[in-house]
Amino acid sequence: MIGFREKAQAFLKDYRLDVPSIDHETVLRAFQDEMAAGLSGKESSLAMIPTYISVERPIPYHKPVIAVDAGGTHVRVATLVFDPEGIPHLDNFSKHEMPGFGSEMSRHDFYDRFVRYLLPVAALSDTVGFCFSYPAEISPEGDGKLLAWTKEIKAPEVIGDFIGRNIFDRLRKRGFHHSFILLNDTVSTLLAGKSAGMAKPFASFVGLILGTGTNTAYVECNRNITKLTNLNPAEKQAINVESGNFNKCPRSPLDILLDAATDNPGQNAFEKMISGAYLGRLSLVVLKRAAEEHLLRHEGACAIGDLVDLTTEEVNLFLKNPREAEPFGVKKMMDSDRALIRTLCSALIDRAAYLTALNIAAAVIQSGTGRDPLRPVCVSAEGSTYHKTKGLRRRTENYLCGILGSRGVYHEFVQSPDASLVGAAIAGLTRTGAGRNFPL
Ligand code: BGC
Repeated sequence: MIGFREKAQAFLKDYRLDVPSIDHETVLRAFQDEMAAGLSGKESSLAMIPTYISVERPIPYHKPVIAVDAGGTHVRVATLVFDPEGIPHLDNFSKHEMPGFGSEMSRHDFYDRFVRYLLPVAALSDTVGFCFSYPAEISPEGDGKLLAWTKEIKAPEVIGDFIGRNIFDRLRKRGFHHSFILLNDTVSTLLAGKSAGMAKPFASFVGLILGTGTNTAYVECNRNITKLTNLNPAEKQAINVESGNFNKCPRSPLDILLDAATDNPGQNAFEKMISGAYLGRLSLVVLKRAAEEHLLRHEGACAIGDLVDLTTEEVNLFLKNPREAEPFGVKKMMDSDRALIRTLCSALIDRAAYLTALNIAAAVIQSGTGRDPLRPVCVSAEGSTYHKTKGLRRRTENYLCGILGSRGVYHEFVQSPDASLVGAAIAGLTRTGAGRNFPL
């Protein structure tokens, strides 16, 4: 008789959902090609957004700065001060819902919400670092024009707007004059990693986010950013890859099925294979197909058939506690079905870890550094999915060691608490030509 493990493995192989179905050399080559195309302004699924942020500047200390972290589900606001050792001290922290998360929001209400979130700290500093976890084209002045919403945020009227200008102009009307810089969360994470790893001689820096969405940032030589003509070729800057939109990774027919049911089919294909907004939903698509193909007994198949939604958090709790956690732990079903469900969900996490390792590896390799074991590349990895999902972080780190190790490239992970806020604060304090962003 075939056991649950063999059944699950055969199913995963048939649907090309298992790690051995991924040819990592092909995926890495495709990443490199798309990165090169994005840097030169050719058609590419990777936007490769220049940030005008250097990682070379020292952090001024004892100067307060307001930091904002507009993430997938929440907005966090705080003030920060760095001490002479570069240690950040955080104060006046508040946490709010991300406008447009869950239900649709008008343009007016969207900005009004941010103004309300910022008013309590608005007088505490004239400098703001604004971490914004969505694809935005950055202007040389440090504002960001929203290119598209990801993570199912619903505020369509805001697309195409300069986010910072719209918020800080409204605050100006209330008497507050801020100089601000807007940056992607991967860039904040990269900068926070740099400050956390300050004592070490790293060759370069990479930021990864794997939370509700996913993306990477790394440091590129200006001379390779040929789509811009006004850069000093001797300098370097952080690049926001927008790797969640990578569309050259082979997908399973079930990835395609999930994608078709999202608000933005065809966009962010890679993100939909690995990030927190989608892993639960993808698991449900996979489990429903397994039930249709009679991999489960009657009670197990009914339990899955009844489900209309499954979150990444629920999958994670089930993996941690398969005989007790909702929704499968408490349902009436054979333990062999529970074991099969667990094996399938765990395989999707394993694939997410492998693809995350490839995502990081692509950024590390593109930096062109890390060949000297004494000067590895610093990888700062953040996000709830990365840190909280059972086994994901450990497996990613193991896979990354294999992928980079076999190429003779050295890396090291660092972690910094409150990375998005800390990195935003660093960007605010170190931005070039600090002053007003726009002539008013
Ligand atoms: C966004 C990126 C962001 C990533 C991680 C993606 O959905 O497009 O800009 O960095 O999520 O938060």
